[in-house]
Amino acid sequence: MESLQSEREEWLRQIEAAAGLDALEQIRVAALGRNGQVTGLLKGLGSLPPEERKSRGAAVNRLKEEIEAALGAAKDRLERAALDQRLAQERIDVTLPVKAESDGRIHPISQTIDELIAIFGEMGFTVAEGPHIEDDFYNFTALNIPPEHPARQEQDTFYLMGPEGSRPEARKVLRTHTSPVQIRTMQAQKPPIRIIVPGRTFRSDHDATHSPMFHQVEGLVIDKHIHMGHLKGCLIELCRAFFDIDDLPVRFRPSYFPFTEPSAEVDIGCSREGGGLKIGAGADWLEILGSGMVHPKVLANCGVDPAEYQGFAFGMGIERIAMLKYGIPDLRTFYESDLRWLRHYGFAALDQPSLITGAR
Ligand code: PHE
Repeated sequence: MESLQSEREEWLRQIEAAAGLDALEQIRVAALGRNGQVTGLLKGLGSLPPEERKSRGAAVNRLKEEIEAALGAAKDRLERAALDQRLAQERIDVTLPVKAESDGRIHPISQTIDELIAIFGEMGFTVAEGPHIEDDFYNFTALNIPPEHPARQEQDTFYLMGPEGSRPEARKVLRTHTSPVQIRTMQAQKPPIRIIVPGRTFRSDHDATHSPMFHQVEGLVIDKHIHMGHLKGCLIELCRAFFDIDDLPVRFRPSYFPFTEPSAEVDIGCSREGGGLKIGAGADWLEILGSGMVHPKVLANCGVDPAEYQGFAFGMGIERIAMLKYGIPDLRTFYESDLRWLRHYGFAALDQPSLITGAR
């Protein structure tokens, strides 16, 4: 009996002292495992004379149960301690305010793109992308842009060097608009399609209102029953949500693009009285985007049957709408990387675009 008493104390002391779950498991194996000491005591019972076996058996079983209970309690305690430690280490205070003195600023172009994604995301659009260096086919030919079109001239488009003596169409271009992503998307996926494409575009132009690199956002919707009414509804909603003016006047003016038919340019109402520009009031109009129903030839160029599907597309300059919304007077300042400018016109990191309040 006495020997069991000292064993009991020794096991309970070890269990109490175990520093972690691994150490505890080692103790369990040493006591109760197949070759464990307590298991050995149980095995040894069979060789005892019957009168001793009964009381000794009861004592060994009691010891086994006590060790099991102590192991269980220690396991709970160690697991809880491990969880407490993790909770203490991984604590994140989501209510902490942004550091006021933080220097980081979101560039107005990035902010504007985020706002557009939020607005179109709500309407069920996803974001698509394409390469900046584009094939002539995607930038021009597939979009039904004829060889004599001015965009194809050297003075408007950046051409990359082609192989010696190659045909002009074999040369790559810096994409002049985001419209080639219409073609890439229609080739890659079946309708229904509902995408916007924010991204960089390039034209050989440089003055106060033109930069050789600028940004556009393209939109494309293709399905069986899409008509001009969807185009109008979608773009009116876009203009009003972006400028955060519920009754912003929006006007559709007939226009021409080789890849849409019919085509329309979209104007928003403004006033220029007293030299200042005010959006949403007055009798003047300001052009902000191009749009139209996707030309049947463009659908056919992408393997989409124009007898079954139709849709609309639009393209808009991002700098232009950012300048209008945030009162930025000069296009060139977007790319001067002047920190004073960015501190003034940029956005704090947590100025999340939301549909309810516009940007702020
Ligand atoms: N790609 C045209 C441009 O750059 C804009 C546009 C896109 C017009 C889609 C109609 C449809 O001017």
